[in-house]
Amino acid sequence: MVGVRVRGDDHVQVLESAEVQTVPVSPKLGVNIPLGILLGLTLGVAAAMFVDFLERTTVSTPGDVTTQLGMNLVGFVPNADTDAMTPRDICLMTANHVESVAIESFRKMGVKLLTHHKGKETPVILITSSTPAEGKTTVSCNLASFLAQTGRRVILIDGDIRRPALSEVFETGSARGLYDVLVGQAKMADVVSETEIQDLRLVSAGSQPVTPMMLMDLKAMKDIMDEARSLGDVVIVDAAPILGVSEVSMMCAFCDEVLLVVEAGRHRRSIVARARDHILEVNANLTGVALNNVHYSRGDFYYYARYYRDYAY
Ligand SMILES: Nc1ncnc2c1ncn2[C@@H]1O[C@H](COP(=O)(O)OP(=O)(O)O)[C@@H](O)[C@H]1O
Ligand SMILES: [Mg+2]
Repeated sequence: MVGVRVRGDDHVQVLESAEVQTVPVSPKLGVNIPLGILLGLTLGVAAAMFVDFLERTTVSTPGDVTTQLGMNLVGFVPNADTDAMTPRDICLMTANHVESVAIESFRKMGVKLLTHHKGKETPVILITSSTPAEGKTTVSCNLASFLAQTGRRVILIDGDIRRPALSEVFETGSARGLYDVLVGQAKMADVVSETEIQDLRLVSAGSQPVTPMMLMDLKAMKDIMDEARSLGDVVIVDAAPILGVSEVSMMCAFCDEVLLVVEAGRHRRSIVARARDHILEVNANLTGVALNNVHYSRGDFYYYARYYRDYAY
């Protein structure tokens, strides 16, 4: 811009020379660059927090199992009233016909597991979870009792060698069991004990603690599963949790179906995904998830539970 003053018709006087700008007026790099960095950082942190939030979200609903983890939902087990029932009572809900919703859940689960098994042989169903105390024993016992009530001869094996629980649930005492077969001192047929439930027979963990190394004996494990098959119509193995217990993956490989018990609301998706991958890595047949300890009245679950109940027959 040049400052000029007009004096009459022909006199034009320069009052001030225009300044030549050395810095471009636009873009304003001094402002834009820091602003861009700040905005980028904010968006980056927000995205990281969102991913972290998703990762931390616990596996709680059927959608978490099916959509997020890509697994089949075999069924849910409602939260039982622990004030009114002991852990043993909860294991024997289907045997004692105490909880209709739970019985219905196990009935559906049993039917799904049996129809999923296409083979002609007696199916061996292994029940595991990511970590301890998610409900493996509870699901194993109720499922076994339910299947026995349908007239099938059920063999239930206590395969959780670190925390065997079945001889206590069925009050069979510390009789001979898995240990005795593994050390070659008995055959499976010698160690099955009758229980109070008709058609349900038990193979306890045994007279001594089984060691993890014993379960790594592939030949012995295959023989045990084959012998168990010859003794009944369905074999259920109450196994140890799969994360951190290497022999469980190996056991999965010898079974026809693997059911992963997931306690609703307990673990982040990544933990359950790791358990799923351990099962799939050994080419085991992962039938799906039993979502345990579900509070039917809560959030998303209400709608699934209603659907589940409405379509019960
Ligand atoms: N659906 C349920 N409702 C209430 N309590 C449950 C349920 N499932 C399991 N529990 C309780 O949780 C605890 C652990 O269950 P358990 O079946 O022994 O787990 P795991 O065999 O996986 O270690 C037990 O005290 C059991 O009674
Ligand atoms: Mg257990």
